[in-house]
Amino acid sequence: MSYPDSTSIVVEGVTKYFTMRYQRTLKQMTVAAVKGREISDTFKALDDVSFTVEQGESIGLMGLNGSGKSTLLKLVNGIMRPDGGQVLTRGRIAGLIATGAGFHPQMTGRDNVFLNAAVLGMTEAETRRKFDEIVEFADIGRFLETPVGNYSSGMFARLGFAVAVHVDSDIFLADEVLAVGDKPFKKKCLERMQQIRAEGRTLFYVSHAAGSVRKMCDRVIVLEKGRVGYDGEVNAGIKYLKYDPDEDSPPEVDDDEDLGADI
Ligand SMILES: Nc1ncnc2c1ncn2[C@@H]1O[C@H](COP(=O)(O)OP(=O)(O)OP(=O)(O)O)[C@@H](O)[C@H]1O
Ligand SMILES: [Mg+2]
Repeated sequence: MSYPDSTSIVVEGVTKYFTMRYQRTLKQMTVAAVKGREISDTFKALDDVSFTVEQGESIGLMGLNGSGKSTLLKLVNGIMRPDGGQVLTRGRIAGLIATGAGFHPQMTGRDNVFLNAAVLGMTEAETRRKFDEIVEFADIGRFLETPVGNYSSGMFARLGFAVAVHVDSDIFLADEVLAVGDKPFKKKCLERMQQIRAEGRTLFYVSHAAGSVRKMCDRVIVLEKGRVGYDGEVNAGIKYLKYDPDEDSPPEVDDDEDLGADI
């Protein structure tokens, strides 16, 4: 099947299984083997997931913990392959879907910027040109010259996000890694993502925060135990998740004016 040029991502009947390995003693494993019992189990993390994304759409990917959001992003990114169905993407993909991915713990922040940029498909010349901007965005001071293995989670996220936003990509993926950043950094990231959206790039944003999804996205996909539970308009998606305060629960403090407050 062919798709128009305006199609950015196609996810078609995608299924992903994982093997669950239980911690067992040798004795338990021997007993299980003798009795013919399974010592591992398969688990369906994504179950027949289908949707199409047009270039320039901004999708908020939501759902409870373990519903398959990060797994789906890894399939879109090409880090993992589906066991069933197919994932098609058009253009260059960048983003931050796991802190520390593409970093070497024993190398300094500076060297890791080059390593990470290369993993994301940037040439050395391109990285050199953008280096000062990347460092300024990360804003980790003299820690840039120390091994990233000793970084705090927030510093890791800062460096990773700084590199990712400087890649000229057609698709930008952002998992909840933003959640480890402090308030000023989150604000900066969200502003940068708004800019990416305004440039007509496709945005895939995983978040549990209704407020930031409302500001950032024009469509919400909700995963429920690996299946698409909802796909459509933002407010209805948030309502579907019941993330908005209702009559039964005390009203949430909504710091709506501050872009970085609600992530
Ligand atoms: N490599 C793996 N091996 C085994 N199970 C895995 C693996 N990766 C993910 N899973 C399982 O798949 C399910 C979905 O995980 P996933 O990380 O996609 O959830 P999520 O929606 O991103 O959750 P969260 O909101 O907590 O980030 C979970 O039950 C998880 O334990
Ligand atoms: Mg996740």
